[in-house]
Amino acid sequence: MTPTDTPESSGNESRPHKRRPRYAGTHPRRYEEKYKEHDIESHPDMAAHLRAKGITPAGSHVPVLMEEVLAGLRPGPGEVVVDGTLGHGGHTRRFLEAIGPSGRLIGLDVDGTQLERTGRRLTAEYPNVSLHRGNFAGIAGVLGKEGLSACDIIFVDLGVSSMQIDDPHRGMSYKHDGPLDMRMDDRLKRTAADLLAALTEREIAEALRDLADEPDHAAIARRIVAERAIRPITRTLQLVDLVFEARGLKRQAWRQQQRSSKSPPPHPAARTFQALRMLVNDELGRLRELLRVAPYCLRPGGRIAVISFHSGEDRLVKQSFREALHTGVYESAAEDPITPTHEERRQNPRSAPAKLRWAAKPRETVDLRP
Ligand SMILES: C[S@@+](CC[C@H](N)C(=O)[O-])C[C@H]1O[C@@H](n2cnc3c(N)ncnc32)[C@H](O)[C@@H]1O
Repeated sequence: MTPTDTPESSGNESRPHKRRPRYAGTHPRRYEEKYKEHDIESHPDMAAHLRAKGITPAGSHVPVLMEEVLAGLRPGPGEVVVDGTLGHGGHTRRFLEAIGPSGRLIGLDVDGTQLERTGRRLTAEYPNVSLHRGNFAGIAGVLGKEGLSACDIIFVDLGVSSMQIDDPHRGMSYKHDGPLDMRMDDRLKRTAADLLAALTEREIAEALRDLADEPDHAAIARRIVAERAIRPITRTLQLVDLVFEARGLKRQAWRQQQRSSKSPPPHPAARTFQALRMLVNDELGRLRELLRVAPYCLRPGGRIAVISFHSGEDRLVKQSFREALHTGVYESAAEDPITPTHEERRQNPRSAPAKLRWAAKPRETVDLRP
């Protein structure tokens, strides 16, 4: 870990001992009660049990398209890899194995809690890892701090981790009640509740339409604006109720439909939550900036790969790689998006929307000046 970015605490010495919460019955239901899942490395039996049922344990994240990422990026001994979305460190660990002790791995995450947890595990095992709390859009600055002008590989696995979705306190899930926060980086000033209080009806509708292709964007925006004139919208389940009302749905009828359907439709509030989260974290803006600077941050022969989970993100990646191929900035790129196999989707349903694209620079230096 770099001295500037060392997480404030490491190890357990300074932590006061806390009793684990008791739960009624035989199985923990609430996030706080799932103490084994939060320390999943110490409970491999629990991990195996949940994974066999297609469930991701609450304190972990199953990396997606792993073999496809390695096949596209071909990390080799001694190379410098920037993993712009460290998360639980699943992809990072495989990069570290591939580059060996002579390589360097630079990991970034905007989420301080995530960075500290994963950092503690990785730095204990690998001396050639350095971690930075920061946005991947600022990759050039991070390389500079590391004394580098470029790297061999840039990888980003967009969106949120399972740990962030599953923690109700982060406010990203429409399944649990929690504060309407949605910030991946708690240093950001505006939460989702702040945005819902401040944006105009038109701005809310446009965000729902443009960031999540929500067909009922106008009705949902209208319902939100009517509600906030009476009381502030501050909780996740409060927003879920408003979406149900705006779409003329009854919770019980929807639940029944879900139970009886072989391939249940997405949750009615899923698109609203996605759009708000992308807005709070300026996810498209940050991706656009990364795609713009990436060619300058890659050495000749360098490779980049992006895993996206939303058509708007994939469109940006596709266009950027296509243009760069056309101008010769990249020499090759995946022709079509690479998607999870049927088996991966079965084992990890959260992988289903993932799309991977990669591109590679030519080995000879190219003048990138416009
Ligand atoms: C899908 S998870 C990555 C999972 C990781 N590949 C693994 O195998 O565990 C995305 C992570 O990237 C972080 N993140 C999302 N956008 C980011 C950005 N623009 N810059 C830095 N980190 C970001 C999130 O906080 C989250 O921890």
